[in-house]
Amino acid sequence: MKVRKAVIPAAGLGTRFLPATKALAKEMLPIIDKPTIQYIVEEAKKSGIEDILVVTGKGKRPIEDHFDSVPELEQNLKDKGKTDLLKLVEQTTDINLYFIRQSHPRGLGDAVLMAKDFVGDEPFVVMLGDDIMEDKVPLTKQLMQRYEDTHASTLAVMKVPHQEVNKYGVIDPAAQTKPGLYDVKRFVEKPDVDKAPSDLAIIGRYLLTPEIFQMLETQKPGAGNEVQLTDAIDRLNKIQRVFAHEFKGDRFDVGYKFGYLKTSIEFGLRHPEVKDELRAYIKDLSKKIK
Ligand code: G1P
Repeated sequence: MKVRKAVIPAAGLGTRFLPATKALAKEMLPIIDKPTIQYIVEEAKKSGIEDILVVTGKGKRPIEDHFDSVPELEQNLKDKGKTDLLKLVEQTTDINLYFIRQSHPRGLGDAVLMAKDFVGDEPFVVMLGDDIMEDKVPLTKQLMQRYEDTHASTLAVMKVPHQEVNKYGVIDPAAQTKPGLYDVKRFVEKPDVDKAPSDLAIIGRYLLTPEIFQMLETQKPGAGNEVQLTDAIDRLNKIQRVFAHEFKGDRFDVGYKFGYLKTSIEFGLRHPEVKDELRAYIKDLSKKIK
């Protein structure tokens, strides 16, 4: 069956960016001029996803507004002949987005369970908003291509520094069935550094079969006392194969301050409007702060 649907959990409180996220959804924090969630939606679109469900919570209305049309603004830009800006604004409405509110966030697994009726009986992808991924073929598309072959759930993983494995879901890999595609013995959420089965971390893109919902419905809270998607996937792996696909592209983790800053600088160095000035500024600054 074709993969057509994506779920973007966006109910988190964004505590790592307080006080900025007190009244502002963290998914709306911009990298230069584009909210982080738009990068995720664009990856979905480029991958051929047709329908997206965003799981939101309190204070997340600006996300809905961002992807809606704004007739007054559009008319204003038209009148002033600002066609480039008009195009940028119009692009954000060209996608089928659905929203559901999670009133009591109980973890990622619980957020994904909110998508049960939207997903129905189809395979689907889950895309987390903290990671912007870049590669020739979008990562979500890479997972979809794997699915065409295996018809099985497949998660994206990437090698991370060993001291950081306790921030992630980690896999215990078995043999590679194909280059870059692992059979998995076990999925562990946030293991202790000295107990982690590998340095291959789950990085926020999942292609899942609908049977995951049976697991989520009975999933007990795990690490951090939250209902963990990783734990449900580990149980799914016991009744049907779940694979891990190793991502070799670039990952920008915008979910913590330093990652957000690094991404802003790197994307700024590519942005036609600011790249030359920013390059000169960084050179100047590095001389000053020797
Ligand atoms: C979540 C998942 C974890 C995954 C990570 C990727 O954790 O629970 O398995 O490795 O995203 O970013 P969180 O970052 O929400 O703590």
